[in-house]
Amino acid sequence: MQTLLTSYANSETTLERLSAICTTKFDEMDQTIALKRDQRDAEILAIFRTNRGKALTDEANVFFSGIIGRADDRLTSGVAEQSANSGWLRLVSAIGGLVIVAVVGGAAYGAARYTRELRDTRDEVNALNSQLEQRVATRTEDLAKARDRAEVLLSEVNHRVANSLALVSSLVNLQSKAVGDRASKDALAETQDRIFAISLVHRRLYGSSDVRSVDLDAYLTGLLDHLRTSMRSQVHGISLSYNIEPIDLETDTSINLGVVVTELVTNAFKYAYPDGVGEIRVRLSKLAGEQAELVVEDDGVGKADGAPAKGTGVGSRIIIAMCISLGAKIDYRNLQPGTAAHLVFSTKPRRVIAA
Ligand SMILES: Nc1ncnc2c1ncn2[C@@H]1O[C@H](COP(=O)(O)OP(=O)(O)OP(=O)(O)O)[C@@H](O)[C@H]1O
Ligand SMILES: [Mg+2]
Repeated sequence: MQTLLTSYANSETTLERLSAICTTKFDEMDQTIALKRDQRDAEILAIFRTNRGKALTDEANVFFSGIIGRADDRLTSGVAEQSANSGWLRLVSAIGGLVIVAVVGGAAYGAARYTRELRDTRDEVNALNSQLEQRVATRTEDLAKARDRAEVLLSEVNHRVANSLALVSSLVNLQSKAVGDRASKDALAETQDRIFAISLVHRRLYGSSDVRSVDLDAYLTGLLDHLRTSMRSQVHGISLSYNIEPIDLETDTSINLGVVVTELVTNAFKYAYPDGVGEIRVRLSKLAGEQAELVVEDDGVGKADGAPAKGTGVGSRIIIAMCISLGAKIDYRNLQPGTAAHLVFSTKPRRVIAA
């Protein structure tokens, strides 16, 4: 009862009064039961007639109805509060649900937009790529055509240079026939051989698929055959043999080497065998480290160091100039008998030209 009345105003007074009513009522009941046991009915009747017990019960009923009514009110307000709370809960849940739907919807929309943009960008990149590939293909085709044209042109130029040099050689030949003295005739004949050495490179390049390098094997073989024919018309008893390894050499380097070979072989023909009988050997071999060695040797009288030139001495100057171009140094060895000229040079391409 005390627990029930805690939230009531004047709960202590009410509880005291209720307790007094109950005590009085129970006392009256005890008294009545005791009188009945003694069969004192008249006294019991007198107590009933006072109507005090009923009045106490009515008063207690009033208190109890009040308490019950207030408990009901509390219950009703609790239920109303709960119902209000559940209404709030529903509202908050609904708002929360809406927020979640909005966030998820926004994220899904963003993802879809991002995906679409990515797809569009990819399509653009693909389109650009194919345009670029098309352009590169066209450009490559143009470049290939231009390169083919340039090669044809270069081949034509080489042909014309070779023909022009042949014409110069014919002029020198005409001149040598016109001069009277032997020394001038020989000098002009040697000049003709030098011109031939150069023209032969251009002749070999004409029609070649690669105009940047010369096949030394074929070039030097042609040059030495020409020198043999040319010199043997003067010195019949001298033989010329050669052993050339197949080497590809840049055009300019090949011309330098061809001129050196011409000078060395011509000198050997002219000076090694005063009695006009002997052998000249030419070797070209590959060495390690992209190098090659040219050797022109004879078994003749030997080249005297520091002795004055028997002819004009132009040959030695030409050899020095060619060696500078080749980045090499010539080395004369005394074979006793004979002379061996050694020339080591690099076969590495000096200029890298785009293919
Ligand atoms: N293989 C050789 N054997 C003997 N002597 C040589 C040999 N090679 C060169 N000589 C000597 O070296 C000299 C110089 O040669 P170089 O080629 O410079 O001049 P040249 O041949 O006399 O004149 P040019 O080359 O102008 O006709 C020659 O005169 C010759 O005496
Ligand atoms: Mg000479």
